Amino acid sequence: MRYTVVLTGEYPPIAREILAPAFDVIQHPTEQARTEEEIITILSEADAAITLLGDPLTRNVLAANPNLRMVANYAVGYNNVDVEAARELGITVTNTPGVLTDATADLTMALMLAITRRVVEGDDEIRTTGRCEWEPMKLLGISLQGKRLGIIGMGRIGSAVAERARAFGMEVVGSRRGESIDDVLATSDVISVHAPLTRETHHIIDAAALSRMKPGAYIVNTSRGPLIDENALCDALDSGHLRGAALDVYEFEPEVNPRLLRMRNVVIVPHIGSATDEARTAMARIAAMDVFRFLNGQPPLNPVVPQPRA
Ligand code: DGY
Repeated sequence: MRYTVVLTGEYPPIAREILAPAFDVIQHPTEQARTEEEIITILSEADAAITLLGDPLTRNVLAANPNLRMVANYAVGYNNVDVEAARELGITVTNTPGVLTDATADLTMALMLAITRRVVEGDDEIRTTGRCEWEPMKLLGISLQGKRLGIIGMGRIGSAVAERARAFGMEVVGSRRGESIDDVLATSDVISVHAPLTRETHHIIDAAALSRMKPGAYIVNTSRGPLIDENALCDALDSGHLRGAALDVYEFEPEVNPRLLRMRNVVIVPHIGSATDEARTAMARIAAMDVFRFLNGQPPLNPVVPQPRA
């Protein structure tokens, strides 16, 4: 009997190349914010699936198809998966750690530089006026050299950002899971957020946390949007308490808070932290290899460790 593997989006071709010789592969177009009903329909024929980070793999979805035995989530983050339900239902879940660390750390530095050096405002000015005019006081930002970077979440990606930031002459302080972030918030010129989204980290940067940040500081988020209370962030930017924010992820993705769209002291990009040829291909390879191994009776290499109960 040939197993059926469902690809819920259009992944790099390597995924199909690995899977198609051995299994029946059904590929669906990439779609944002599917409903539970939509994803249940898509997964109805699957023995295993490669899933998008926006696919809601809730208990209902996981329980709907008794043949579904494995889900390879095409992301390092797996907050879209009810891991407890998967464990109870005996469904194996994997993710794609490691291979997107450099790409995401690079984008974090790109955003940090873009917001502190007002790159997007400059680009916008030239496109609008068609001119490049040098002026002594125009578009002044800050230098990263000698500034303090506070990293919330010193895991793989946070540590890779720390390494890059030190090369720019920054002093780095970090907080790990379970540690207080108060000192990091109060003393940093730039905060960069790199924690996974869990019950504990949801709104870890809320109005109170923002008020503890240094006046004139910047914040960068390339992890998950709901770690920051977006309305509170807009208030802090509007009031001038924060000087700028650079975001790759949003609280209600794929929706983006309209207040952010109007702000010039915000750089916004569409969740492209891992968007390099190299990282996305490597993610597809390890997701597909884990499906291949699993359906051939071997343990997958990147099983997700369940979150402990709150
Ligand atoms: C992830 O892997 O969790 C990123 O958000 C997308 O690559």
